[in-house]
Amino acid sequence: MSYKALPKSVQLNFSKSEAENLLLLSANLAQHDFSSPYLYDHNAVGNAAEKLSGPTFDALRNFASGSNRFGTLLLKGLPIDSALPETPKFGGRPSSKVPVSEVSVAILGCLVGDIYSYGDEKEGLLIQNICPVKGMEHRQENTGSSFLEFHTEDSFHPIPPDFILLNCLRGDRKKQAITATASIYNVLETLDDKTISQLTQPNFIIRSSSSFGESSYTKCVQILSFEGNKVHMVFDPSAMIATDGSSAAAMKCLHKVLKKETYGACLEPGHALLIDNTKACHARTHFEPFYDGHDRWLQRVFLSRSINSFTSYMTPNTRMIDPLKVRSLCA
Ligand SMILES: [Fe+2]
Repeated sequence: MSYKALPKSVQLNFSKSEAENLLLLSANLAQHDFSSPYLYDHNAVGNAAEKLSGPTFDALRNFASGSNRFGTLLLKGLPIDSALPETPKFGGRPSSKVPVSEVSVAILGCLVGDIYSYGDEKEGLLIQNICPVKGMEHRQENTGSSFLEFHTEDSFHPIPPDFILLNCLRGDRKKQAITATASIYNVLETLDDKTISQLTQPNFIIRSSSSFGESSYTKCVQILSFEGNKVHMVFDPSAMIATDGSSAAAMKCLHKVLKKETYGACLEPGHALLIDNTKACHARTHFEPFYDGHDRWLQRVFLSRSINSFTSYMTPNTRMIDPLKVRSLCA
């Protein structure tokens, strides 16, 4: 995958005082593991988020309303755990880890949207650990380490996230793992009218990721949809099948232009990537895992602009979508 460096305009550095403030608020709340859907305390996280002031926090709040042309923000200078345990072998959370980064990412997420999770993925954890897992190298999902093709996160699900936030705890030592995004706003003007029209037809069948285990979601989607001057993109070529030749050709054309407008970064500790999942798809290059406790380790959260319209599909007193309840939304 070839890529360009993200422009400086979408890279933000936390100032020393912003990072210290976030660390202090996070450390004060780190008595609980907020990654658990049963222990997450939204009032505490929301109150902490309200106390954050500074240009980087304001930029995060503004991203929620319109994001930017790249559908991406790269944040740098987040507080780092002083003592990080070994990278988890199976993507679980090590019990020895002090949950400071979990609180930090929850607070940052709260500035952008409402955090939530899926009960049928990663045990419903609100803050998920993304690490390479032995034997899963070639999976097109978070446990893999071979090239992860462009995708809109969980677009097969009836309630996909509006934003995803990836916080890097431990980088890839060989710096091979490039996380990249491609935005519809950077390529729309290069597509002809016929291709755009074809992409707005609901002629694309998308199937769920293996990370959802035995749960199976399938839906027919349009790749592009327009609402006023806004464009919404759903794109996942490895999980998507076009139902006719013209649709397949349009999908191939979109894929080709997105590959030319791909922007990436090798995430390092203290970096977080915020992606507008309605504008930009994302991918990750191949990297070599060693399974020695020092492999790449990210934490991920899913965010919605508002969870108010789907709280009835959640397990009571949690922000975790109940797979049985959401079945009624599946075609
Ligand atoms: Fe992803």
